Amino acid sequence: MTLLTRIRRPRAALLGLVAATALVATGTATAVPDVTIKASTLGAQAAQSGRYFGAAVAAGKLGTSAYATILDREFNSVTPENEMKWDTIEPSRGSFNYGPADQIASHASAHGQRLRGHTLVWHSQLPSWVGSITSSATLSSVMNNHITQVMSHYKGRIYAWDVVNEAFADGTSGARRATVFQNVLGNGYIEQAFRTARSADPAAKLCYNDYNIEDWSAAKTQAVYRMVQDFKARGVPIDCVGFQAHFGSAGPPSSFQTTLSNFAALGVDVQITELDIATAPATAYANTVRACLNVSRCTGITVWGIRDIDSWRASQTPLLFDGNGNKKAAYNAVLTAMGGTPAAAVARSAAALPGSYSWSSSGVLMSPKSDSTHSIAGLKDPSVVYYNGKYHVFASVASSAGYSLVYLSFTDWSQASSATHYYLDRGAIGTGYRAAPQVFYFAPQNTWYLVYQTGNASFSTNTDISNPNGWSAPRNFYSAMPDIIKQNIGSGYWVDMWVICDSANCYLFSSDDNGHLYRSQTTLAQFPNGFTNTVIAAQDSKYALFEAANVYKVQGSNQYLLLVEAIGSDGRRYFRSWTSSSIAGSWTQLAASESNPFARANNVTFPAGSWTKDISHGEMIRAGYDQTLTIPACKLQYLYQGKDPGAGGDYNTLPWRLGLLTQTNSAC
Ligand code: XIL
Repeated sequence: MTLLTRIRRPRAALLGLVAATALVATGTATAVPDVTIKASTLGAQAAQSGRYFGAAVAAGKLGTSAYATILDREFNSVTPENEMKWDTIEPSRGSFNYGPADQIASHASAHGQRLRGHTLVWHSQLPSWVGSITSSATLSSVMNNHITQVMSHYKGRIYAWDVVNEAFADGTSGARRATVFQNVLGNGYIEQAFRTARSADPAAKLCYNDYNIEDWSAAKTQAVYRMVQDFKARGVPIDCVGFQAHFGSAGPPSSFQTTLSNFAALGVDVQITELDIATAPATAYANTVRACLNVSRCTGITVWGIRDIDSWRASQTPLLFDGNGNKKAAYNAVLTAMGGTPAAAVARSAAALPGSYSWSSSGVLMSPKSDSTHSIAGLKDPSVVYYNGKYHVFASVASSAGYSLVYLSFTDWSQASSATHYYLDRGAIGTGYRAAPQVFYFAPQNTWYLVYQTGNASFSTNTDISNPNGWSAPRNFYSAMPDIIKQNIGSGYWVDMWVICDSANCYLFSSDDNGHLYRSQTTLAQFPNGFTNTVIAAQDSKYALFEAANVYKVQGSNQYLLLVEAIGSDGRRYFRSWTSSSIAGSWTQLAASESNPFARANNVTFPAGSWTKDISHGEMIRAGYDQTLTIPACKLQYLYQGKDPGAGGDYNTLPWRLGLLTQTNSAC
């Protein structure tokens, strides 16, 4: 069989078998969605403005459930409190002990948390074998080797590294601290450390981190500022400055925001890296958080521990959770300062999506437009983003000759039918089997991605979504079909690739028309490379979990939504739904049966006339357009493919058209 005829089986072959499909009714109760889009946890709320909210973590406590529960509920970034420090990680020359830090790194990766690396070059928690080096040649090579080895071990997994920590002296001198590095290597050692770090992991942000540099008028602040200014002027690689923010009960100095914005104006990110405040006054915490939020390049906040009993200043109870893990007043103040919703609304917003759905469908909004070289039967598999005042739609076009891709854009749905269709096979994407596109903006690279199937999982990139000629030639995510898919695909087809990222990782989903949803993983830093660990993310009988899977982040909640297209007992296509608190987590049924479907002819009305009985492959209208695939929790809209119920024959020549569902039972 040729590739083109292998794409989908003829539809007739499906009928008759589907009645045997076992379907399980949903047990999920209907929840009232929160009225406004506010999160109820620190990490989710910080993410609303593109920031992270992190905590320092001790590997030895990850097994304590009270500790890990708060960590994974509230925080989307972690900093190893001690495990990446020199005395732990290279206790004797050339012998590296990554175990404890690896534990934290795996935990972060499994829970979608960013990882901050802390710290490479620091005078404290430094083993005596380093402190006693007196030869500059030896210390230089020891320092470079330490940076290179440790950064290489964690390469691609670290959001930001504290390359050098606490290199300036306290007091009014503005001098360098007299450490072994300063004394033996001289002033150039910080620059050397940053240059070495850049070569070791070019994807990690490189930070200088210190305390008592929050007050703009302090001599120490000024000295660090001059160093960063000099580095930027001379092209020494530096991306960020960490303000530890270990405050007394009075909280941050009044000039803290000025300090953050002055550093940011040098062209670096700023971060609050080790926040704790004696006795944790709510106002002091809120003021600290506001200073960061008011500076656009302040990218995140890390508190130095979770519960007061975890703090290195435990007797001063400086953190957001008490010893029993209860939220303190400071917690509510921080969440509120970020625009989130404390305590009372937590239960409601935690389940942002209802457990049943009803929809109203448009008539046919888009039909194929054949031209002199394309004779098209069906317009299918739409992917859509709203960007720069326009809907941008990518879709498959199908005919007896096979599948390729088309692009169209329009300002509102009433214009959709008159939009020009641009055939993407005219550009570098080329001719041949290309189908089921998914488009998103990958913010870390400022680039649009178009993901599609070619027999492999492929993608093209473009810096301008509105330029159909700008897409690059196809590249594959995998060198070959992963073994687990080979082992389970049976007589199915490998279809419908879907990428979604959280703040740490990207995931690639695909289906096999044989009851399996697969998921592979890579880091945000490595994307689009490095997809490994392919697993079965969900399975059911063949027609109950057929294809066209979508995974979305629900805005303002910790929920992810999974939709998978099924074939019902009537032979018609419909969608089932599940939710999970993490992309790599397990999926709980939401509206997942024929009688309580996510979207099926029986929960859709057709005011403009009932033109389809299939609610098939499509996409949700998103709240944004980036790699997080965030959708609103309210008034959902779904662009889908449907077709004349009477049409039959060869699957590739069915008359698929596009229509839009709008949710009619949204409580907000
Ligand atoms: C502290 C840890 O919290 C303690 O467990 C350890 O005993 C000493 O170090 N500045 C830093 C952090 O950069 O690494 C320090 O962490 C606190 C001060």
